[in-house]
Amino acid sequence: MGDQATPPAPELAAMAINDGPCLKHPFSDRAPVRSIVCRPDGGAALAGNRVRAGGWVKTGREQGKGSFAFLEVNDGSCPANLQVIVDAGVADLSTLVQTGTCVLVEGLLKMPPEGTKQKIELRVDKVLHVGPTDPASYPIPKTKLSLEFLRDHIHLRPRTNTISAVARIRNALAFATHSFFQEHGFLYVHTPIITTSDCEGAGEMFQATTLISEAEKLDKELIMNPPPTEADIEAAKCTVGEKSSVVAQLKAAKATKEDISASVSDLKKAKENLSRVEERAKLKPGIPKKDGKIDYGQDFFGRQAFLTVSGQLQVETYACAVSSVYTFGPTFRAEHSHTSRHLAEFWMVEPEIAFADLQDDMNCAEAYVKYMCQWLLNKCFDDMELMAKLYDKGCIDRLRMVSSTPFERITYTEAVQLLEEAVRGGKEFEKNVEWGIDLASEHERYLTEDIFKKPVIVYNYPKGIKAFYMRLNDDSKTVAAMDILVPKVGELIGGSQREERYEVIQQRIAEMGLPLEPYEWYLDLRRYGTVKHCGFGLGFERMILFATGIDNIRDVIPFPRYPGRADL
Ligand code: 4AD
Ligand code: MG
Repeated sequence: MGDQATPPAPELAAMAINDGPCLKHPFSDRAPVRSIVCRPDGGAALAGNRVRAGGWVKTGREQGKGSFAFLEVNDGSCPANLQVIVDAGVADLSTLVQTGTCVLVEGLLKMPPEGTKQKIELRVDKVLHVGPTDPASYPIPKTKLSLEFLRDHIHLRPRTNTISAVARIRNALAFATHSFFQEHGFLYVHTPIITTSDCEGAGEMFQATTLISEAEKLDKELIMNPPPTEADIEAAKCTVGEKSSVVAQLKAAKATKEDISASVSDLKKAKENLSRVEERAKLKPGIPKKDGKIDYGQDFFGRQAFLTVSGQLQVETYACAVSSVYTFGPTFRAEHSHTSRHLAEFWMVEPEIAFADLQDDMNCAEAYVKYMCQWLLNKCFDDMELMAKLYDKGCIDRLRMVSSTPFERITYTEAVQLLEEAVRGGKEFEKNVEWGIDLASEHERYLTEDIFKKPVIVYNYPKGIKAFYMRLNDDSKTVAAMDILVPKVGELIGGSQREERYEVIQQRIAEMGLPLEPYEWYLDLRRYGTVKHCGFGLGFERMILFATGIDNIRDVIPFPRYPGRADL
């Protein structure tokens, strides 16, 4: 633990020392390990207190010929473990010492002997719960396991130091995000996950449909219960004919009211049966088609729908009404990218600001990234130390550097010139550099890691490689787009000033070969009360990669989804 680690909440500490035997969790009958060991004194001042603690055994060993055991217990509240000592008389030590065992124990906090690492340890006199683990089959033993191996056990990997630290860092960054935008007067807007508009126009969307499951259900039903034949329909029609002549005969014979109404009711039933039979006869196996194409009119929403690739277009509707907004939620891309920087489901933070231009956008994005870096230094120092030890020794210095150094800002044209110079100087890239290309990850990383050694904002990109909604610059060749590139990751943020001129955006949609109809509502924002506005999207997992130095994006989201994998 570093000296910058956050001390436990003051009420917990006060309770422990003055008010009672336990540093109790407010909603659980035990003291979080954090409240004991993550204090500036390592917990030393708590010696003499009675405490109940729970967690999972990281390592355990029997000592003194089996007369007592040392357990390192972790409950995920901080990276540090609580050292627990249990005498053989108190519990079955052979079960307790197995890695993965859950324990809830009570006892007295004591100072360990001089020279030990721990500043406090728990001498147990009561074992209240044991959740045993069979070491022969437990997939997460105490040996060092690769992150790749752990991906095959995503339901158990939060028990590891790394994944629980990442979870705390992720949590802190989410809190920092809300804190930053709330402090700056932004309104949090929940944009839809199911959408009928393709924001990026890149056609990488997952479809949301019930047509397939409905078709499967129907296929099964038709096998169990075959559709009516022509003969069945004829028979049903005959019955209707017979019943209606009975009604006619009874009426002609001036039969009693009761007899007539009984026959009318029979006729009604026969007609209902006929229409049921005719309806069922229309049922066809497979997905419904119209004019040779899938008939989305019969789909759940009466039209084709998708999982969102970005909440931007929808959040713009609120920016153009309540000025400063942000959305933060999951986004989905059906790209077949097998890289360490892409997920099929990832989280994005997307602010949108009215009465603001590209410069404002860059200023906001830079301030937000700096704020998150500083937040981690203030609130997650112990977890960052673990990252520095295990994954990237420079990660803490990087957070300090980023939070305190202005980002470099260069135009796309300047970026290409720098890369061309590098090529002339002997640098080899897989993809050729020339004005007009979409910068590849290797180019982005060269700019930020080798040339500037800090975050770089590249702006004014060629219009041909960017989305339709970005504002066309006066040169008619570039758009007011910006990407923030950072060491280790490459592109962290993509944003732009939005095209607020009705004629221009309409033309851009047409130029890109996109249909106008689905964007009519978006064009209304320009037709009625248009305003200069801008925004950006930060890939939340990429921010965690950047902060921690972890290499693969699949290890910084609790449940990674990528081509071929969607566990749990
Ligand atoms: O650059 P992108 O595609 O921008 C947008 O979606 C805009 N609509 C955002 C806006 O202006 N409101 O994506 C934004 C960021 C990227 O910079 C990257 O960090 C991340 O989202 N990203 C991904 N992260 C993980 N896996 C993927 N497949 C990603 N695709 C984009
Ligand atoms: Mg982008």
